[in-house]
Amino acid sequence: MEIKERIQALKQKRNAVILAHYYVADEVQEIADYTGDSYALAKKAAGLPCDVIVFCGVRFMGESAKLLSPEKTVYLPAPKADCPMAHMASVAEIERVRREVDDLAVVAYVNSTAELKAHSDVCVTSSNAVRIVKALPQKNIYFIPDDNLGRFVKEQVPEKNFISCGGFCPRHNAVTKEDVLRAKAEHPSALVLVHPECRKEVVELADFVGSTAEILDYAHKSGEKQFIIGTEMGIFYRLTQDNPDKEFFLMSDRLLCPNMKLITLQSVLDALEGKVPEVPLPDRADEARAPLQEMLRLGK
Ligand code: 13P
Ligand code: SF4
Repeated sequence: MEIKERIQALKQKRNAVILAHYYVADEVQEIADYTGDSYALAKKAAGLPCDVIVFCGVRFMGESAKLLSPEKTVYLPAPKADCPMAHMASVAEIERVRREVDDLAVVAYVNSTAELKAHSDVCVTSSNAVRIVKALPQKNIYFIPDDNLGRFVKEQVPEKNFISCGGFCPRHNAVTKEDVLRAKAEHPSALVLVHPECRKEVVELADFVGSTAEILDYAHKSGEKQFIIGTEMGIFYRLTQDNPDKEFFLMSDRLLCPNMKLITLQSVLDALEGKVPEVPLPDRADEARAPLQEMLRLGK
């Protein structure tokens, strides 16, 4: 049997569902039951009628799925696939800011470890952060770990004070103004669509800023035919599938997340065969789950 057939057979046998982020390799997105951005996948993981979730993404995504569905077996096919940004905040700093600042909400981008979530009040993703921060009663926001997303939200919620923590996505943050200008010079008619994890100088030159799902939606609905894309290159699978009549150009070849690319068809098969360890329920699971549930409640 071919690897894809073996995956399908085992999926049925184990009553499993395969979730995949838009950044994983094309062949993995192709065999997934659902692809999505971080928010859509977290919502999906919370309500699936299955016994096993195979989460084709990085560690914080598998951890969140386990927190939201603790009774299910959750596998990360590539257990070493981690997001460096998820570690770019510290519990000691959260505690210090809490001691020093009144009327404070600690807002954790889902790209954070379960330990950081356990010390936060609410989670957000790039597709719901503005809405959720606006809805919070607190005036002061400690936004962890992504400074670029925090700055993007701050610009749209000027009535709040933001405290940043210095984190960044090494991939999106590597793109510069020069990359945008070069791409625009090469494709002068193309619209520029970027992720809010990009630097301010990049976001300022964009025609549209949004999460991966929002970029897909924008490109699909637009009457334009050419787009420069400022997010991880895995998004090209869906962009080209959904829009065969349109052209897409990657803003920089640094937009490649090596962690997302660790997930292969073989690793998905290994997970379904029980050859990779299950994602354990994180320590302080109740505390780490609460901000995720608050995100799902406020994000409705
Ligand atoms: P979204 O899927 O929320 O756009 O997040 C991008 C990302 O960097 C995930 O790791
Ligand atoms: Fe983390 Fe950036 Fe990779 Fe997303 S693209 S998983 S934020 S390193």
